[in-house]
Amino acid sequence: MDLQIKDKIALITAASKGLGKAVALRLSQEGAKVIICSRNKESISKTEQEISQKTGGIVKSYFCDVTNEEQVAQMIDGIIKKFGKIDILVTNAGGPPSGGFGDFEIDDYRKAFELNLLSTINLCKKVIPTMKKDAWGRIVMITSISVKQPIDNLILSNTARTGVIGFMKTLSNAVAVDNITVNSICPGYTKTDRVENLAKNFAQKNNSTETSFYEKLESNIPMKRIGTTSEFAQTVAFLASEGAGYITGVSLKVDGGFSKGLF
Ligand SMILES: NC(=O)c1ccc[n+]([C@@H]2O[C@H](COP(=O)([O-])OP(=O)(O)OC[C@H]3O[C@@H](n4cnc5c(N)ncnc54)[C@H](OP(=O)(O)O)[C@@H]3O)[C@@H](O)[C@H]2O)c1
Repeated sequence: MDLQIKDKIALITAASKGLGKAVALRLSQEGAKVIICSRNKESISKTEQEISQKTGGIVKSYFCDVTNEEQVAQMIDGIIKKFGKIDILVTNAGGPPSGGFGDFEIDDYRKAFELNLLSTINLCKKVIPTMKKDAWGRIVMITSISVKQPIDNLILSNTARTGVIGFMKTLSNAVAVDNITVNSICPGYTKTDRVENLAKNFAQKNNSTETSFYEKLESNIPMKRIGTTSEFAQTVAFLASEGAGYITGVSLKVDGGFSKGLF
């Protein structure tokens, strides 16, 4: 299927590894010109080289912390100067630390909101004017399955990400008339460094093994396996495509059936 995004300008944040990187690779494979960022100069430029070598496409990387308004403004200005516009925005960031109600102070919530909610709002505020000019835009917000079914011991993530969904749905109605779609993809457990670290921590804390972490996790997933970054990325690419132009305001689970609710 031709996604019809060849030569579209796509910004994917937090993309030196994991879900963001897989999305950047996929969009580049589809012919989009891809811009990626993360906080570590060395790893983001390594990823830039890796993707452009694999696809032969145009890939540009920025050193940018999505919680830093000044760095985000500089990056967006740089992209507009070089490419003229941004057609596709995929918002992503790291996840807040794990823990429950008794583990955090108000400042920890503030940091989580900055990382996952305010960074998303800020990126949209900066990118939407250029999409409006062109009367075409695709925004995909990477959240988590926790917006459908809160995950135990992840109170910061559960709280901050549901705010993203409220923002996403409200924004989608406001910009639909400009031919801009706004959706969220909610990953379930997907094999990235983040999950590998969770497995290592589990093994250490419980005097157990990483294999038993995965076995425990997978026993709760109807598909009996965790997801791949490639499966995740293909779903994002579809929502970024021309053909998905009538889908907006949706939060879509990519979780192998993990979330047991109806929606
Ligand atoms: N993998 C899963 O199973 C899963 C499930 C549900 C939700 N999620 C969520 O999806 C997001 C991505 O997960 P992942 O598994 O791909 O994580 P990951 O493998 O740890 O990768 C995180 C990426 O984000 C970048 N990053 C982190 N904080 C940043 C910031 N403030 N500004 C810019 N870049 C930043 C990191 O690069 P630098 O360190 O260089 O900045 C890295 O490229 C996270 O929010 C995670 O909580 C993941």
